[in-house]
Amino acid sequence: MDEHRGEGRGRGFRKAILINEHFVVYGVPAVAVPVFRPVEVSVELHRPGKGIRLWGFPGAGKGGDGEMVQAARAVMQGLGIDPEPGELRIRCRDDLPNWSGLGSSAGFCVALARALCEALGRSCPDETINRAAYQGERIFAANPSGIDNTVATYGRSLWYVRGRTPPWEWIRTAGPLRLVIGSSGLPASTREQVERVARFKEERPSVFSALLEEAGALVRKARGELEVGDWPSLGESMNQGHAMLRRLGVSHGVLDEMVAFCLREGALGAKLTGAGGGGCMIALVEDAELGTRIAAGLQRMGYPAICVEPGAEDHRGGP
Ligand code: MEV
Repeated sequence: MDEHRGEGRGRGFRKAILINEHFVVYGVPAVAVPVFRPVEVSVELHRPGKGIRLWGFPGAGKGGDGEMVQAARAVMQGLGIDPEPGELRIRCRDDLPNWSGLGSSAGFCVALARALCEALGRSCPDETINRAAYQGERIFAANPSGIDNTVATYGRSLWYVRGRTPPWEWIRTAGPLRLVIGSSGLPASTREQVERVARFKEERPSVFSALLEEAGALVRKARGELEVGDWPSLGESMNQGHAMLRRLGVSHGVLDEMVAFCLREGALGAKLTGAGGGGCMIALVEDAELGTRIAAGLQRMGYPAICVEPGAEDHRGGP
């Protein structure tokens, strides 16, 4: 770093995985959509100075920021920046704190990478940001597929296949989706859930490979439904996706209860989203009115909920 002081800001999108979280880690395609509730980061770099200081995170300054600091260093290394850059002050603005499962860690890594590039006066293409954010994600999730940081970087709906080059292609949905997102309020560790699935694979290899096959067929069907706007069938695919995740052991009684509530109230489909074990669920609804009603019902049960139109902006803007 050659300046004595630099300031920068950045944003990273959240995401909802529509089909195939976890299976995506093993090379099965997955579909994710952006959620336009970005994580925002601002940074100040001071030289001389020492250390990384964080503000605005749940747990920051109470010992809960160790992982964030490690992730920040990993992002800096990913950008080719000295991970001991003097003093780095990081402020985060996150309007959905503790909503696990929507890619807030990836949103943070992307926002930080962008803020650092601005602070250093560098112009960093999205590809560089995405690569650096993946390094940060590796701190939060042992073996991330890369889907979260990719949506967090580009903010577009995508089809993601780990191991392909590039691993993603854009999906153009037939129209804006309407999703209710409900938070169980239960903490969820992506690392623990991914490790749980790895144990499942080891202990029950033939069941696991049958599930991978099923997941592959399901996501291909769901992609078609998304592209032609067959929402009722997409809803059924989401239900099937939730059942498969339950078989993997990554759901939770509270998530199942929330899913059942949304279906009873008229959602077309519902499932957990993200790593599971807690965190969030999503429900597909036909119109905003029903979405608002279901979200209000979840709130009455004590679960924070919102109704969103993920992908609406890429639908409007188009590539
Ligand atoms: C977490 O948002 C999604 C997982 O599939 C992990 C990953 O893809 O890295 C559970």
